[in-house]
Amino acid sequence: MNISIINGPNLNLLGTRETEIYGSNDFETFFEDLKVEYSSINFKYFQSNIEGEIINFLHDEGFSSDGILLNAAAYTHTSVGIADAIKSIKSPVIEIHISNTFSRENFRHKSFISPVARGIIAGFGLNSYKLGIESIIKIFKDE
Ligand code: DQA
Repeated sequence: MNISIINGPNLNLLGTRETEIYGSNDFETFFEDLKVEYSSINFKYFQSNIEGEIINFLHDEGFSSDGILLNAAAYTHTSVGIADAIKSIKSPVIEIHISNTFSRENFRHKSFISPVARGIIAGFGLNSYKLGIESIIKIFKDE
């Protein structure tokens, strides 16, 4: 089973960026642990601060991946282009957020991703990604 994880802008700075909100763990270490925990899953990880690169990766993986976890970060609240890319591909996309965006500023309450995502997981720290993997495993078994 193939799962892709996409992290958007500024998530390369996890572990040092606004640690009171996002925690002090970096994603690379967390990802190494994920690969051990879910050793039967073939993961691809992509992080970019550039909107078009995220769209290109969705196009590249969106017809072969069994599921995509997408934390579009700030692009969540702005990107029609990423939303259109999700509509254009076949793989189910789960919207992921580390923080509970609804308990934060108003501009974070609007998501262009939510209406086109299979589901949304937010507010559980890095564990949001694990919950996302579990949901893709369930979709894979059921469909
Ligand atoms: C985020 C929430 C977004 O509002 C923010 O711009 C991020 C991270 C999260 O994972 O909580 O960069 O997507």
